[in-house]
Amino acid sequence: MKIDLAILNRQFKLYQTEYEQAALKALRSGWYILEREVIAFENEFADYVGAKFCVGVNSGLDALTLSLRALKIGAGDEVIVPANTYIATVLAITANDAIPVLVEPDEFYNLDSSRLADALTERTKAIMVVHLYGQAADMENISRFARENNLRLVEDCAQSHGARFNGKMTGTFGDAGCFSFYPTKNLGAFGDGGAVVTDDAELAETLSKLRNYGSKVKYHNELEGVNSRLDELQAALLRVKLSHLDALNDERKRIADRFFAAIKNPRLILPKIRKGAEHVFYQFVIRTENRDDFKSYLERNGIQTVIHYPIPPHLSECYRQLGFKRGDFPLTEHYADEVLSLPIFNGMTDAEIDFVTGVCNEYNS
Ligand SMILES: Cc1ncc(COP(=O)(O)O)c(C=O)c1O
Repeated sequence: MKIDLAILNRQFKLYQTEYEQAALKALRSGWYILEREVIAFENEFADYVGAKFCVGVNSGLDALTLSLRALKIGAGDEVIVPANTYIATVLAITANDAIPVLVEPDEFYNLDSSRLADALTERTKAIMVVHLYGQAADMENISRFARENNLRLVEDCAQSHGARFNGKMTGTFGDAGCFSFYPTKNLGAFGDGGAVVTDDAELAETLSKLRNYGSKVKYHNELEGVNSRLDELQAALLRVKLSHLDALNDERKRIADRFFAAIKNPRLILPKIRKGAEHVFYQFVIRTENRDDFKSYLERNGIQTVIHYPIPPHLSECYRQLGFKRGDFPLTEHYADEVLSLPIFNGMTDAEIDFVTGVCNEYNS
């Protein structure tokens, strides 16, 4: 048997007729940018997460970058951010000339709230929290810390569509919740896309200008904006997928439950679930000491895996000028050396799930 990390056309086939009808309707409409489908999707997604406003943009990175910009976070401002994240989170900070202050993760791979106090300085303006792999960070303590210290709170929800903490949707704890609709995501489009959700009318207004050359009224440019618009075709397809998102997330949870029940190999460390967190398993990330050996073993047995992520942002080539070195964030580096994401995707068959668990259990080198 051969299993890729994510076989994306399986989820397409689950609702193929609906997608095709929605795409045709959008193509035939004659409206392609910031029209009915985008407006309808923004309203439906805001309703889904329980926010007042949603502004569609071109990608998750733009959602993060423009949110910081709209919150007036810029040169010299410090933003607390997890060291253990995808580089896009940090890129959004440095793109605004702000300074990323990296904080080590907890046992759930997310920002360790007990280390926030040490990261705080007079220049701290915001916390950028990430709900990595589909599980909420410790939002009780992180939200409180942000409130008590008068900091802006931006959530990177690129991996957490539909994930809750104490019953509340990720994306609704802070000033802005930033989503990616990259095709592999739980709410993935069929191309690039992103959105920001917020309860702040002024922030939503600024974002809707920033994404469109800084203008609300054509050719009246109030801000130095960019072109970062969600397009009609992606919005039409996202509306279909959003209507099935709960079912799609439930399916991911069922696959994860079967992994938890069946993988019994003491060499493999399975994910831990935070009390109060409802995990939506964007990724099912395990850890093992000889990760590269285990990865090759799976590959030899036809199972493709990916490392999320092999090089932490602080050790990335592009941030050489920040002067970090190996050893600066030992826990993050340790995770980068040991993590591995097993295949998990909508439409994964029982036989494929059993095959993955069986091969995992037989690993003994
Ligand atoms: C945690 C995280 N933040 C931000 C992004 C950026 O999203 P996009 O690829 O849509 O720009 C991603 C996605 O790849 C991500 O995983």
